[in-house]
Amino acid sequence: MTNWRTLAFILLLSNSFLSRARGHGAMGDTIARVYACYLENPENPRSEACKAAVALSGAQAFYDWNEVNIADAAGRHRELIPDGQLCSAGREKYKGLDLPRADWTATALTSSAEYLFLYRVTAPHVGFFEFYVTRDSYDPTEPLKWSDLEDTPFLNVTNPAIDSANYRIPGVTPAGKSGRHLIYVIWQRSDSPEAFYSCCDVHFGEGASRHSLA
Ligand SMILES: *[C@@H]1O[C@H](CO)[C@@H](O)[C@H](O)[C@H]1NC(C)=O
Repeated sequence: MTNWRTLAFILLLSNSFLSRARGHGAMGDTIARVYACYLENPENPRSEACKAAVALSGAQAFYDWNEVNIADAAGRHRELIPDGQLCSAGREKYKGLDLPRADWTATALTSSAEYLFLYRVTAPHVGFFEFYVTRDSYDPTEPLKWSDLEDTPFLNVTNPAIDSANYRIPGVTPAGKSGRHLIYVIWQRSDSPEAFYSCCDVHFGEGASRHSLA
């Protein structure tokens, strides 16, 4: 083998190559748990929540941040994903994401405000994005159940505009919310039954700025 062939072979096997080649995306802003822990560095995460998640799931799940999916979902999310496992989409590999904790990195939001949501994408597909927010009674220290989400999405966008790395999804944040909540985003492809799931921890405050709260 010549040297460049050896190098190409190594690149082909490396985690970053594989996750780019197979993966598809996750919420970037408001940031998904899985992507936040990936950005912290799965080998040595900074936050207690990501440390606990990596301890349970292993680092590889976070290199594969863009694959929290179900290949044959076809809209049957509530049938296929059990209560308590919404953030992992019922997948053993991602079970660290289901840890009920109140200290996941949370994006600061204001209620009823215009917001540009960004979906980090590594392989674009046609489809729609449903955004659900938790009810006022949400308790982040309890396992997340389907009944914790409001019945109808506050935002549902089909084929949004895309730039080099993100779908750009303009919307309005949910009304009447305060404190810690969770935004659950389902990306259902329309060219295949595959769907992707993002758990985004958020914190609604008065005139909150757009930085992340630890
Ligand atoms: C979201 O929009 C898609 C595409 O129009 C539609 O099929 C889907 O039923 C909508 N979701 C909800 C919960 O209304």
